[in-house]
Amino acid sequence: MNFVEAEKVFPWVKEGKGNIVYEAIDRHVESGAGDTVALYYSDGEREESLTFAEIQSKSSQFARGLLQLGIQQGDRVFLFMPRSPDLYIALIGIIRMGAIAGPLFEAFMESAVRDRLQDSGARAIVTTPSLLTRIPQSDLPELAHVIVAGAKEELAAPLHAFEQVMKQPDDPFIQEVSGEDGLYLHYTSGSTGKPKGVLHAHAGLLHQYVSGAVVYDFRPGDKYWCTADPGWITGTSAGIFAPWLHGVSIVVRGGRFRSEDWYATIEKYGVTVWFSAPTAFRMLMAAGDDVPKQFDFSKLRHVLSAGEPLNPEVIRWGEQVLQRRIHDNWWMTETGSTICANRPDIPVRLGSMGKPLPGIHLAIVDSKGNELPPNTMGDLAILPPWPAMMRAIWGNEEKYQSYFRNGWYISGDSAYRDEDGYFWFQGRIDDVINTSGERIGPFEVESKLVEHPAVAEAGVIGIPDPMRGEIIKAFVTLRQGYSPSEELAVQIKQFVKEKLAAHAAPREIEFRSGLPKTRSGKIMRRVLKAWELGLPTGDLSTLEE
Ligand code: WTA
Repeated sequence: MNFVEAEKVFPWVKEGKGNIVYEAIDRHVESGAGDTVALYYSDGEREESLTFAEIQSKSSQFARGLLQLGIQQGDRVFLFMPRSPDLYIALIGIIRMGAIAGPLFEAFMESAVRDRLQDSGARAIVTTPSLLTRIPQSDLPELAHVIVAGAKEELAAPLHAFEQVMKQPDDPFIQEVSGEDGLYLHYTSGSTGKPKGVLHAHAGLLHQYVSGAVVYDFRPGDKYWCTADPGWITGTSAGIFAPWLHGVSIVVRGGRFRSEDWYATIEKYGVTVWFSAPTAFRMLMAAGDDVPKQFDFSKLRHVLSAGEPLNPEVIRWGEQVLQRRIHDNWWMTETGSTICANRPDIPVRLGSMGKPLPGIHLAIVDSKGNELPPNTMGDLAILPPWPAMMRAIWGNEEKYQSYFRNGWYISGDSAYRDEDGYFWFQGRIDDVINTSGERIGPFEVESKLVEHPAVAEAGVIGIPDPMRGEIIKAFVTLRQGYSPSEELAVQIKQFVKEKLAAHAAPREIEFRSGLPKTRSGKIMRRVLKAWELGLPTGDLSTLEE
């Protein structure tokens, strides 16, 4: 399977009209697989499953409900809720009626939610009663509707009960769109500025379908568990659409991480393909090898990892404990689907990200955008376009253009390629932090830190951590009248947790009397990093003091 063959399966994508939801759901119902389970859900307390036919009818109801609220094709409709069957029905319903879905991670606090809704001019958001208080009541003139799933009380506009919105005919309804029309908007971080909205298009399905075939190795009858939350691209592209385009059942686990529950999930559903992340594997490793011995993984055929570097040590653990090799694959929010992978048809090289997908030209380039020979470190770059490539940074053409150099898409990662065409990740070029596979922009954290009454200035970096890859460390100077203390550090961490998101809060805070800055006043994170790691600070000619 490759992109050209995928175009033959979905000819409308290049010229014509259709909808990714038709290909992921309705097509299977029409071909007689309506009774196949599309989604197995459990969170320890609740257990539920939905067939492709049920998702078709329920998401059609929701799509009609949105239409009735006045939502139009191209409008942004956000999702801000824990994993539950409703989340999947709503997501599919939004896309079904031609709107653009904006999935948000449930850990976001009010200001993170506000930034994203504001930036995208969101028209509606779907949430749950417990998260409702984090949806700002002001500054969002375009937000016309808040749809609440599972509300116990009567709601008045702009609030609507999800269950009420769903009161619509359940025969299939689909809005046809063109391949280039907006599908979903995932906010992600760079090293400067607020999070940016990465817009994807329906045509990305060609790529998701190919990834499903050649990387995730989907086969008929598979039970697939991708542990990523739909708030991140892995959760939507690899977690929902790639499998459903192949008619494969997905397993969704709500609730918190517990090693027993995770292993039990594989056993209980007979998971055949499992996609997770290095931090999760390291947490399972840390829980000890006696736990997995109690479970049966005999159905498991293929194990995948993405989001951060996968240590060879973790692959060796997988071989011993799961008796499976973990296959690392590389991509980004912006690439929309997997770009480079230890595919099942090539031998895994421990520590490498594997080889590019067929039809993808992946390369290492220098600072001028010239391709470099094997075994030379440089910028990991892709020759555009590819089917799942982002179509825009929402409302920010300049930012979008800044990704390209001499015709190449520049990833921001450094890597090298060996003589055999395997790629080896070396690190980020910019200051973006990758903690537990989650991408955190230091700027967003710094901005939140300086809102704390005690904080004058803050510089935020990632420091190496054996479990999480990196953890967030903040260097902070204090305002007059405040002095450093353990208690204050705890308070400041708590402040970021409550105002931004728990996963974005610094785990370490170091108080300083001053921070290294350029003459233009920009905090030099690379100097902070050098201090932290005891490395030479390099060129300090632009340092102010
Ligand atoms: C990092 C997640 C090493 C990388 C799909 C990239 C990886 C960023 C790998 C994108 C991997 C992703 N090995 N690093 N296999 N996969 N990364 O946008 O730095 O959340 O640029 O997308 O994660 O993170 P994002």
